[in-house]
Amino acid sequence: MASLSREQVSALTRLTELADQRGSAVYLVGGPVRDLRLDLPPGDLDVAVEGDAIALAARLAETTGCRLVRHARFGTATVSGDGAHIDLASARSETYQTAGALPTVRPSTIDDDLHRRDFTINSMALALNGTAAGQLLDPSAGRADLDAGLIRVLHETSFQDDATRILRAARYEARFGFRLEEATRDLLVRDLPYLETISPARVHHELARTLLDPEPERALSRLANLGALRTLHPSLHFDSDLATAFQRLREIAPRAVPSAYWALLTWHAARSAAEPVIARLGLTRRQADAARALNALREHPPQSGARPSETASLFSAQPAAAVWALAAVGSGAAREQAHAYMTRYRNVRPLLRGGDLLALGVQPGKPVGDVLARLRAAKLDGEVRTRADEERLVRDGLARNDE
Ligand code: CTP
Repeated sequence: MASLSREQVSALTRLTELADQRGSAVYLVGGPVRDLRLDLPPGDLDVAVEGDAIALAARLAETTGCRLVRHARFGTATVSGDGAHIDLASARSETYQTAGALPTVRPSTIDDDLHRRDFTINSMALALNGTAAGQLLDPSAGRADLDAGLIRVLHETSFQDDATRILRAARYEARFGFRLEEATRDLLVRDLPYLETISPARVHHELARTLLDPEPERALSRLANLGALRTLHPSLHFDSDLATAFQRLREIAPRAVPSAYWALLTWHAARSAAEPVIARLGLTRRQADAARALNALREHPPQSGARPSETASLFSAQPAAAVWALAAVGSGAAREQAHAYMTRYRNVRPLLRGGDLLALGVQPGKPVGDVLARLRAAKLDGEVRTRADEERLVRDGLARNDE
């Protein structure tokens, strides 16, 4: 049975004592309550405070020596250290002035706070103090939906208020093996156009969290089937080839995840649409560079009979995430060459070092670099194997220069 860690329990106990002193009611809320019910270990702890969350967080950080980060604009704060990470927010109600914009927020009760949330399974709270301590607050029957494996919105215009919920719904479905409740699915499809109200930064934030899940291709395939990806941008597709590429990427380069995923997401964008897709996904500069490089490699793949040294010189100038992405996707030859480069060619070095070359009579500076590059190419192409082979190649080169 999953439960809170000892460190989390002691942080929450301390928090509750401080909240009692201040007369504030505190609740564990949202994700961790859901995860505990699902028997999954909760990660970060979300706490709703009926009262001043920032002041309470500051007091907790002060008495425990933990780190405090305040987000005054949002009335939230984070306290982390000693094996626990707690996000505190003042309980609030939200009203949406315009679709997609951040809501107007007012301090309120835990009841209002639960009613402003995305899905029933995320709208439960566990009272940590007061007479209700230990009780589950579940005004929207989230527990029943958790048991039934259903993702259900709390009201008709939920996706209009905040269309990032469309992206979130697919993530929860895939992560927990749940499904969209029927009416929620209809509302989601009806409200797909509201995705246009969501800024690239918010799209990026939600997809980045999806890409951290163990099998993000599940949520992305679902978003494609629901029509959400093409609503984000008509050239954004996710098909079974990309799903296979995601799986292969994890097998061949677990450490290139998630940066190479981002590049793969732009794989189907036609050349002219690559930039708009990059912009719509809110890619960081590094992610965008990898996406552009992958696109360029797709347009101009290495020749199928290329020598290893030619392949190496093409790939060595590219971001690693782009070459890993190519090694996971695409057609035969290019994919194999990218894989060979990342797993073998890029680690090939001549046996001779700069000092050895100087001793053989190569001039210091650029000539040493040039000869090292020539040696590396010869080694990649199997022209030299031993140290003696390399020395011969250097001497031959020097002799030719003297002619
Ligand atoms: N929430 C919401 N609408 C959003 C974003 C968040 O109602 N657009 C609420 C949900 O109740 C959610 C909580 O805020 O449980 C915390 O948000 P977040 O950290 O994004 O959700 P978790 O479920 O904790 O996140 P994760 O996907 O990492 O499990």
